[in-house]
Amino acid sequence: MSFDNFYAELHEKLKNVVPEPEIQIKAEIAWEINKLKAEKNAVILGHNYMEAALFHSIPDHVGDSLGLSRIAAQTDKDIILFCGVRFMAETAKILNPEKTVLLPAKKAGCSLAESITAQDVRNLRKKFPGVPVVTYVNTYADVKAESDICCTSGNAKAVVESFKSDTIIFLPDEYLAGNVARETGKHIIFPTRKSVADDTLLDAQMIGWHGRCEVHEQFSVKDIQDIRAQYPDVAILAHPECSPEVVAASDYANSTQAMIRYVEETNAPQYLILTECAMGDNIAAANPEKEMLRLCRVRCPHMNEITLEDTLDSLQNDRYIIEVPEEIRVRAVKAVQRMIEIG
Ligand code: 13P
Ligand code: SF4
Repeated sequence: MSFDNFYAELHEKLKNVVPEPEIQIKAEIAWEINKLKAEKNAVILGHNYMEAALFHSIPDHVGDSLGLSRIAAQTDKDIILFCGVRFMAETAKILNPEKTVLLPAKKAGCSLAESITAQDVRNLRKKFPGVPVVTYVNTYADVKAESDICCTSGNAKAVVESFKSDTIIFLPDEYLAGNVARETGKHIIFPTRKSVADDTLLDAQMIGWHGRCEVHEQFSVKDIQDIRAQYPDVAILAHPECSPEVVAASDYANSTQAMIRYVEETNAPQYLILTECAMGDNIAAANPEKEMLRLCRVRCPHMNEITLEDTLDSLQNDRYIIEVPEEIRVRAVKAVQRMIEIG
């Protein structure tokens, strides 16, 4: 394909969400990235939260955490460049120890991944011996290594239901745990971080942790009430990292990829998505005939670290290379493999 055709296609996709001069600049960088990607035998995986120009120009595959983990597990390319956050790139490395995995930002963290340590998980295991540990994929490799299985927002319910045990430890997202408890009819307790020893199980069937997504915790039931008052027929979609109250007041809650599918299929006169706002641009670009309502307060600051400029630099200079110590990786890979087989 010539650059002119590449630009024309990108312009067609982005014309309603990105200003014209910006499309020109971004198209030139994306063109360089795609040339280099082919030369270096790399695959680019892009999370649904990438900014619109990047999302629509360079990834070979886009998707949610579960879908991208599955693709990472199968790729035959030499380099996996992850346009997402660190825990996602780490998951790709856990599955592909022999490949080079690149993240275009030094940190690109996640408030959920920062909320828990491997020692916290070991303490919980000591306090609740024999209780299986389910860990959200939004955690670092050493935490995954202490877990029986990982899950994503797309298969959390199926993972929890795959256990025969009455009680499970579900970490670290307090809201996702609350939403899964509600869906599965389980009760949940939250041991305090400092005094795990003070908590008793009583009739709890899920033991949670106090992590939260700094983006999704900002949506409120009042937001939903205000929108419904103005647009009574709007379809409201929430990511399950929103509070259980927000999810209960919405029409649909699921992973980012499932929300994208819902918008493609809905006949509602308007839709509103309660999630990271770059995804709103990506959905709006792909569904120009549908009316999206915006309630976009913040971008995820960590996803926002990934730019086209830094992605080019990443491919040119092989940085930042993701490493996972082998003794952690061999334990973490079991939990990740189990996750990608479910749901
Ligand atoms: P998904 O797995 O639904 O894409 O979510 C990842 C994430 O970090 C949401 O904030
Ligand atoms: Fe983490 Fe929330 Fe950002 Fe997702 S949106 S990467 S959960 S901080």
